[in-house]
Amino acid sequence: MQFAGFTLRNNLIVAPMAGVTDRPFRQLCKKMGAGLAVSEMVTSNSLLYGSEKTQRRANHEGEVEPISVQIAGADPAMMAEAARHNAERGAQIIDINMGCPAKKVCNVMAGSALMQDEPLVARILEAVVSAVPDTPVTLKFRTGWNRANKNAPTIARIAEESGIRAIAIHGRTRADQYMGDAEYDTIAHVKSRVKIPVIANGDITTPQKAKHVLDYTGADGVMIGRAAQGRPWIFR
Ligand SMILES: Cc1cc2nc3c(=O)[nH]c(=O)nc-3n(C[C@H](O)[C@H](O)[C@H](O)COP(=O)(O)O)c2cc1C
Repeated sequence: MQFAGFTLRNNLIVAPMAGVTDRPFRQLCKKMGAGLAVSEMVTSNSLLYGSEKTQRRANHEGEVEPISVQIAGADPAMMAEAARHNAERGAQIIDINMGCPAKKVCNVMAGSALMQDEPLVARILEAVVSAVPDTPVTLKFRTGWNRANKNAPTIARIAEESGIRAIAIHGRTRADQYMGDAEYDTIAHVKSRVKIPVIANGDITTPQKAKHVLDYTGADGVMIGRAAQGRPWIFR
């Protein structure tokens, strides 16, 4: 699959999972066939760059390319700096997290909370894309912030206009957290509206489900989280 300027050997991507997709896990997934595995999210707070956890997360020694590093935050200038910082340390793709419902992340208006503020989304995406002109930037988000506000199509359009090279959509809203089943109609709708690659995510637990979701949504690829960890039921 053509993805953000790279040719991946297939269209199966391992989802970013904090506390799970560390370097050994990503290496294992790539060895076992994943086309790409995204890093755990890295904070955009430069005050934490020196912390052991953040330094460990920025180490990509021996990693199979392409190396995709996810950054999280809500301040355009800090996100731009984080993108530059990680690109200088080996990130070949910068992925922006607008999909995480975790309180720790959303309380500071990052992760999926950002979807409520579309002008801020545009400012963050534009700041990050222009900060790393030689590094493709991708975006991960949800279908919306609640079921009455499924603004994924608008976010996808903003992403495309801002120079984002590919998007991954988790088929739940922020309010849904991990409850209920992921839905794929919104992902199919987004796919019909944008030209950049769309990756479908959420509840892909078997090869048959992967094929079904690809056929149903027309998505270019699928992103697998909990099932890659062997615990598709966790949080449900
Ligand atoms: C333990 C755990 C940690 C996660 N951490 C992140 C993260 O750092 N960034 C992110 O964008 N999504 C994160 N997610 C969400 C996943 O990337 C994915 O969107 C979600 O689990 C749905 O996919 P699945 O049904 O295949 O698990 C996390 C999920 C889990 C279970």
